[in-house]
Amino acid sequence: MSYIREELDKYSAVFFGNCGLGKTHLAIAIAKNLRPIVYDRRTGMRYTKEQIINKDYGVYYAFSYPPIKKPQTNFINADEYFVRCNEVTFNKESKITYVKELLRSELLILDDLSLANMTDAKNENLYLLINSAYLDCRNIIITTNATLAQLKHYDVRIFSRLAEMCHFQEFTGQDWRLK
Ligand SMILES: Nc1ncnc2c1ncn2[C@@H]1O[C@H](COP(=O)(O)OP(=O)(O)OP(=O)(O)O)[C@@H](O)[C@H]1O
Ligand SMILES: [Mg+2]
Repeated sequence: MSYIREELDKYSAVFFGNCGLGKTHLAIAIAKNLRPIVYDRRTGMRYTKEQIINKDYGVYYAFSYPPIKKPQTNFINADEYFVRCNEVTFNKESKITYVKELLRSELLILDDLSLANMTDAKNENLYLLINSAYLDCRNIIITTNATLAQLKHYDVRIFSRLAEMCHFQEFTGQDWRLK
């Protein structure tokens, strides 16, 4: 609720915990309830619909219609992301374009990241995504079964960036699927 009311200081998150505790469920619930956002085509400034209705967008901006509506969210399963990274040609430029495109939305959900069976190539692709989100100040929610300690010791470059960008939310309790 704090996320969609925009009461937080950061809007990236890592949801971690065991299977079936509702990590993906909550990430999707957030995505579906994000406030609609529009952009001024000329200035690139970001406004909520309420701000526009209330004309609360600053006296210096003559709003140039029609405003851009960017895709609100992108959702990708982590394994699918790694496969897609291999599919885009081995030309680095196009991989970067693919990652930028994923991060163009208000929120990217990277679902079900597993740290088991990581290869060097997967690790580089994960680093590319996290570092791009970090540099471009994009919001990303990662769901994972990894523990905080596993995340911490997995790759310091990745964890250091996540630590600055993200709320770390542990999920505990009973598997919904087994209830
Ligand atoms: N708050 C909730 N109320 C009702 N159903 C829920 C709730 N949270 C999760 N569920 C249901 O429980 C099931 C498991 O949830 P979900 O897939 O989000 O778990 P998960 O933590 O992502 O698990 P995994 O780590 O295996 O991916 C889904 O069918 C989901 O719809
Ligand atoms: Mg899940």
